[in-house]
Amino acid sequence: MKPWHPSLFTYWYAVARSDQLRRRPIAVTVLGSPIVLARLETGQLLALEDRCPHRQAPLSAGCRTPTGIACPYHGWEFGSDGALQAVPGMPPESPLPGVRARAFPLLEHDGLIWLRPADTGAAGPGELVNSSQPVYRRFLWQTRWRAHVVDATENFLDPMHTHAIHPGLVRRNGERTRTKVRFSGTAEGFSVDYSGQDRQSGLLYRLFESRRTLERAHFAAPGSAQIEYRYAKGGIVRITLHFTPRTSEETDVFATLHVEGRWAPAWAVRLLVWPFLRQVSEQDRRILQLQSENLKRFPLQRGASTRLDVVRASLEQFWSGNGLPQADEFREIEIML
Ligand code: FES
Ligand SMILES: [Fe+2]
Repeated sequence: MKPWHPSLFTYWYAVARSDQLRRRPIAVTVLGSPIVLARLETGQLLALEDRCPHRQAPLSAGCRTPTGIACPYHGWEFGSDGALQAVPGMPPESPLPGVRARAFPLLEHDGLIWLRPADTGAAGPGELVNSSQPVYRRFLWQTRWRAHVVDATENFLDPMHTHAIHPGLVRRNGERTRTKVRFSGTAEGFSVDYSGQDRQSGLLYRLFESRRTLERAHFAAPGSAQIEYRYAKGGIVRITLHFTPRTSEETDVFATLHVEGRWAPAWAVRLLVWPFLRQVSEQDRRILQLQSENLKRFPLQRGASTRLDVVRASLEQFWSGNGLPQADEFREIEIML
């Protein structure tokens, strides 16, 4: 397994849903690092390396204390900064050993817990994440894909597979229209505009949408991908997937749907839209799993890309530690979509 480039650890990753973190600590894995998360009685969050410095028992199997977390094996207690607070059985006058568990910075935003797996780096998640507001959120869902993060992110941002993988739902097979695609570098990653697609042939569009004035795909480092639709009648819909690599073979996916400026109560979205989106997600999960199993049978093969594969090179560049596209990078192509 190829190790992750050090620069990737300096970003913030979605690691859990806020509602998952109640009384019991939970175990997460980010870029191969096992981490325990806990919410203290005060509401304060804790993220420590999931390893007790005494005999390496997983802290995630322990329980929270009023000020931190207790190891399940001999009960050593650690504070949210990782400092050792108590060793059961140690006479009160004896000093504690100067060991600590490694602590990670974390914060809560828009229903998700975000964590930075390095001691130094960005002060918080970027603009795309920060600008998404809980009042517009209709939906939050989590899944796990058996795929490398590059393949997972490419899948969500790539429209060229939709005819074959989601026939009828997203686009009807065989029906293609000429579409202009504009790729632009941004401060956080890149965006891709599609024009000539103000209507779409699939069932989802016909049931829930109206004429679009904008269809834009965003990538914001490290793992956020968003499809934004704006409508002639007003209103904005944003479907966002935050991808967090657990390992090079598994990626956690946190999906949100935000709706601004139109009638779409959460219950209606759940009842009417969600069953379709779930089917789309399942179709993607299945093809990605087939792809990743086949990559194991042909580990040395590199893919052949065409100009239709608009996002692949930038994603590979970022995830191999070679940075983002230049903010003024721009190209325009025409495709049959
Ligand atoms: S292994 Fe954690 S207290 Fe002993
Ligand atoms: Fe898809």
